[in-house]
Amino acid sequence: MLFHDVVTADDPATPPALAAGGVLHLRRGGTSVVIDLDVAPHPAIVHWGEELEGSSEQSLRSLAVAARPQRVSGGLDEPARATLVASPAGGWLGTPGLEGHRDGASFSVRLELVGVQADDHGARLSLVDREAGLSAELELTLGTAGLLRQRLTLRNTGDSPYTVQHLHLAFPVPWDATEILDTTGRHLRERSPQRHPFGYGTYLRESRRGRPGADATLVLAAGRPGFGFERGRVHALHVAWSGNHRLIAERSVSGEAFLAGGELFAPGEVVLAPGESITSPDVVGSWGDGLSEVAHRFHDEWRRRPAHPRRARPITLNTWEAVYFDHSLERLTALADAAASVGVERFVLDDGWFDGRRDDTAGLGDWYVDTEVWPDGLHPLVDHVLARGMEFGLWVEPEMVNPDSDLARLHPDWILRARTTLPPSARQQQVLDLAHDDAYDYVAARLHALLAEYPIAYLKWDHNRDLLDAGSGPDGVARVRAHTLALYRLLDELKAARPDLEIESCASGGARVDLGILARTDRIWTSDNLDPLERLVNQRYTALVVPPEMMGMHLTSPVVHSTGRTVDLDFSAAVALFGHVGIEWDLTRTDDETRRRIAAWVEYAKRIRPLVATGRTVDVDGTEPGIDVRGMVAPDGTSAVFTLTQTDTTVAYPPGRVRIPGLDPARHYRVRLVGGPSSAAAQSELPWQTYDTTVTGRELDAVGLRPPVQYPQRSTVIELVAQD
Ligand code: DGJ
Repeated sequence: MLFHDVVTADDPATPPALAAGGVLHLRRGGTSVVIDLDVAPHPAIVHWGEELEGSSEQSLRSLAVAARPQRVSGGLDEPARATLVASPAGGWLGTPGLEGHRDGASFSVRLELVGVQADDHGARLSLVDREAGLSAELELTLGTAGLLRQRLTLRNTGDSPYTVQHLHLAFPVPWDATEILDTTGRHLRERSPQRHPFGYGTYLRESRRGRPGADATLVLAAGRPGFGFERGRVHALHVAWSGNHRLIAERSVSGEAFLAGGELFAPGEVVLAPGESITSPDVVGSWGDGLSEVAHRFHDEWRRRPAHPRRARPITLNTWEAVYFDHSLERLTALADAAASVGVERFVLDDGWFDGRRDDTAGLGDWYVDTEVWPDGLHPLVDHVLARGMEFGLWVEPEMVNPDSDLARLHPDWILRARTTLPPSARQQQVLDLAHDDAYDYVAARLHALLAEYPIAYLKWDHNRDLLDAGSGPDGVARVRAHTLALYRLLDELKAARPDLEIESCASGGARVDLGILARTDRIWTSDNLDPLERLVNQRYTALVVPPEMMGMHLTSPVVHSTGRTVDLDFSAAVALFGHVGIEWDLTRTDDETRRRIAAWVEYAKRIRPLVATGRTVDVDGTEPGIDVRGMVAPDGTSAVFTLTQTDTTVAYPPGRVRIPGLDPARHYRVRLVGGPSSAAAQSELPWQTYDTTVTGRELDAVGLRPPVQYPQRSTVIELVAQD
């Protein structure tokens, strides 16, 4: 980014231009960020949110002054502010932005502003603490859709090692943001939302699993009480990092509330040698009138990246739930035939193909095709798949190792551990020390060799255990950060070597979902839970950050493996529609009629995938309990697809009208049922079903229409096409 100099002062003791009343106004994507440069010792954000159109420099200065606190009894003579990297030496009594020390001493930090470079949507602030021997560059960037990114590079300018303990970047939120929303979860139930009052004190969400984890919060959001998807001002923060991290919501009795985020370091994990620096992950803030607007900023910006997957998302069949570890050429070629017959475009061979991997107790690390199961390698299967017009994808879990593997027997020192004993076992596996040069080279060489030998279009990159006690050896140092950076390097190198290769980030389902991994991969495996009823929640909250076309959504077999629930095919298919569609089902056991129905859904998913890949997500608030309404609207408003899902029975019978918002208010749309009531799910015909129903977007939002009467756990898909 090009910046023009606004203010620079080499000597922090004499910042004359700053004293004159500096205010920065960054504007882009419907968002304004106003920064008061006069706050000591370094700037504070006065406003982040609605674009302040027409604000003059004078009014912004007045705004900055109006935000300043006054002296009160029992307080400091010069009241402190929640500045961008606040610290006690600057008077801040809340959670500091930066904490560190030099072997226990020199713990005090006071970063002073010495220089500002800025243009209309970005600023780079130079900060210095000469006494502490630290300097920092803080970058604030407003993206095209109004996402606010902060990133800080901290340098040790002293002459002894400096240990960084905490480094967070703060994003102030309006004082009336008194309700918090975050997510939690577990394997098979990621991103379950929870809400609570945002009171005084600190609300802290930490991720200590070496990967975000199924329980991680994808965003920490604070808004006006009752904010929903459609309405209610809300601000949300995400840390674009695949390792340990923290998100903080803090309300101070000094009248300031903020969200903050950053990496979480183990003791001694980051020690900067003299002259050395560390750059934080991007901490990304979005805001909106409702959560949908928060999500749209993420989606819009992410989709504009040059690396965004633009090719139509291939309909995928993944073999895991179809065959688990029961691999044989015969079984898998039959599955490939069945997949091709319903229109699948990518066939992915999951876990179980490599040396010694007959179950989940052994083999991880030995990335050679198992010659007992595959005497001719994977070639016969791959050729078969390609001959049926499908791409071939392969499952790998490169960061892991089973103690029962040749790799672990040969190189026990390549396993992450912090003691003489190994960390607690999980799924009978341990984590490879990817930051160890030889371990890295081995894994990279095996992956390159596989990619060279087979025409692999896609890697399903799995990660099935947490990094616990992850060190470089009994006397070593903590390795989560180094591991995460090594992973990024490996992914970047693979992508650079094979630009057409697509990679999925899977981690026991959706335990590694963040914009750090999504910057280097093409989709996430959203969850191992394929139950459409539970997926409704998981997908809605994952899509707060992740664009739908990057979320793997698969049709389940009729009896869901994770919940035991028997589900309707049309329901499962409809719930998978607004994502990267696939199938997780042994199709060799399906009859002709079932395959015909699957093929029809696959064809429909192909028809609407351009809309899914570019459209706006709509999540409808206020539907009566038992009904879920959501949709995708084309960016130009010409068409939309909605699903009306009966999650449970409703009290009203037939149910009351549901609104269909998000369309162009002035346009007329013809509304058509696509699927659902044509099946056994329909209990009676809707009057508008046989009528030429053409209504405006405004009418659909304000008034709505009667949903079908359906059995619980059924969906109806409706299409809306603009007529003018
Ligand atoms: C966990 C993944 O989430 C599953 O989809 C599957 O790939 C298994 N691992 C294989 O071990």
